[in-house]
Amino acid sequence: MAVLVTGGAGYIGSHTCVELLDAGFDIVVVDNLYNSKQESLKRVEKITGKPVEFIKADIRDKEALREIFSQHEIEAVVHFAGLKAVGESVKIPLDYYDNNISGTITLCEVMKEFNVKKIVFSSSATVYGITDKMPLTEDMSLGAINPYGRTKLFIEEILRDIYNSDNGWSISILRYFNPIGAHKTGLIGEDPKGIPNNLMPYIAQVAVGRLPELSVFGNDYDTPDGTGVRDYIHVVDLAKGHVKAVEWVLKNTGCDAVNLGTGRGCSVLELVAAFEKVTGVKIPYKIVGRRPGDAAIVYADVSKAKKVLGWHAELTIEDMCADTWRWQKNNPLGYAE
Ligand code: NAD
Ligand code: WQD
Repeated sequence: MAVLVTGGAGYIGSHTCVELLDAGFDIVVVDNLYNSKQESLKRVEKITGKPVEFIKADIRDKEALREIFSQHEIEAVVHFAGLKAVGESVKIPLDYYDNNISGTITLCEVMKEFNVKKIVFSSSATVYGITDKMPLTEDMSLGAINPYGRTKLFIEEILRDIYNSDNGWSISILRYFNPIGAHKTGLIGEDPKGIPNNLMPYIAQVAVGRLPELSVFGNDYDTPDGTGVRDYIHVVDLAKGHVKAVEWVLKNTGCDAVNLGTGRGCSVLELVAAFEKVTGVKIPYKIVGRRPGDAAIVYADVSKAKKVLGWHAELTIEDMCADTWRWQKNNPLGYAE
């Protein structure tokens, strides 16, 4: 029996492959390598000492999925495959709806055909939309504010409908806060295409000299230092949360959404200061205007994850900075040769 990991060559997927293999699961990875390189999986093999079965395919390709399900005994699916850039989703919404929503529908259709009804899905804190009520709890009202967020929200609704139509399904919806960091070996980490959209990969590329300086998007928010506050979570903690969610879907039926965060907020300038302290590398920055669509403060209520999955985040902001830096310093150009 194996766990099928869609999007397993990507940032969070590759870290989750390591934790699944370390926990004793066999895995099969399907990824179209649109936003990743197969090298990440070679590194997963190096870290774990175990082989990774990889199939290069698009999850919208029903025949390719059928082939995977008929060739392997899949007991559960961890579904990461998707496009994730908020700004890009505003420019090419149809690509996002097609890739993320049609891809998930095709995947669920094939799962149903093969009677595999256990899935862990990558959702996002973005499904809570903009609200001042913090911390965010799973029962709060949902409302996305961009096409990317809407794909996550629609998929959540589709998964709830699937469960309502057939209570034999087991669906764990994980709402990630801000994943950063890298594996402690420095062998795998985040390798964004082009100029990073997100804060930590941007800081890391400034540190390694690929970018001249960080632009801090606004210092006039109602926060202690005026810069945006987020709930950064170490990608390895997040990956371990997926192992717990796989164990949950294997033992239960239901459809349940759980926040994966630390429950603590950290501002842009606090993250910059922590990175500089841990690494000894200065991060030049300038304050610029706010980025449209950004909230002032976002952090999770993490009590449900503890109660339902028996999971909580353990690693600190300092760990996140040290591990990001080890990965970036050892791989200044990411997985590129
Ligand atoms: P990533 O881009 O590194 O990984 C996604 C992987 O899916 C990539 O390897 C890509 O090649 C693959 N993929 C995309 N479309 C595919 C398709 N149609 N068929 C097969 N493979 C496909 O992104 P990530 O940061 O690892 O994110 C993983 C998941 O978590 C995504 O669904 C993302 O929306 C979600 N998420 C990410 C964050 C974050 O900040 N990184 C936060 C919340 C949720
Ligand atoms: C963090 C903070 C920025 C870049 C995004 C998605 C969300 C989820 C996680 C997928 C904010 C500030 C950033 C920069 C900056 N992804 N910032 N300069 O926006 O919280 O969440 O990633 O589901 O859906 O929206 O993360 O890392 O982009 O920003 O000052 O160059 O850093 O304003 O306060 P965000 P982020």
